Amino acid sequence: MSKLKDTSVEGNNKINSVAIIMDGNGRWAKKRGLSRTEGHRAGAKVISTVIKLFREYGVHHLTLYAFSTENWKRPREEVDAIMELIYFYIDEHVIPAIKEQGDLCVKFIGDKSALPKSLREKCIEAEELAKDRPFVCNVALNYGGRDEIIHAANRAIADGHTLLSEELLSRYMYTYPSPDPDMIIRTGGDLRISNFLLWQSAYSELIVIDTLWPDFSRSDVDRCVTEYFSRHRRFGGLDPEDQ
Ligand code: FPP
Repeated sequence: MSKLKDTSVEGNNKINSVAIIMDGNGRWAKKRGLSRTEGHRAGAKVISTVIKLFREYGVHHLTLYAFSTENWKRPREEVDAIMELIYFYIDEHVIPAIKEQGDLCVKFIGDKSALPKSLREKCIEAEELAKDRPFVCNVALNYGGRDEIIHAANRAIADGHTLLSEELLSRYMYTYPSPDPDMIIRTGGDLRISNFLLWQSAYSELIVIDTLWPDFSRSDVDRCVTEYFSRHRRFGGLDPEDQ
């Protein structure tokens, strides 16, 4: 029996779309007397395991917050190190995984135009390898929720639309056609959304855990999923017993 079936007895019956704010790399490194870059490197190492674990739970869309539109404010050295790390991660892990696994594709969401040219081209290379596969990993890179909404509205206007609707604007979001996240996890304990998926998070279950991202492990994934299945999603309506 799959884990999805094991845990679906309470509350919700499926989990299809998950998003993660991977926070705490810097604190993880500081605790060990390492550089922040070492923290990001350790953070990158857990990503493929986390993808595997969520796939075991039946998730088909995973959105990871790798670099925000505000992260450019960090010291130049740290920004350069993150860009380089992501480049090599795509080259050494993402592209081989897409080639080996027939059901996986990756999409980079955010404004690619400000990325270093080599990284931008590497992102496009990975995206072009496969599209419309059953498991989609959206990597938010130079991503901001407000930027996404403005970008979507401008594209809709450029396409000649004069009246926007929720349904229409949703189709212009970077994340389209992935469904809105059922659950958004934030590691590192901070209780904020940090400009992540502002449009899509309207009815997502928010789960904050203290674990720092590089320490995020199977037991944390299990805890988050158990917490998700214990919640009653009402989408603004009422539970059946209260109707
Ligand atoms: C937040 O931790 C993390 C980031 C800004 C970068 C996330 C990047 C990775 C996990 C590595 C590479 C990603 C991919 C997709 C290969 P923080 O630095 O804000 O930590 P702190 O809150 O402890 O300072």
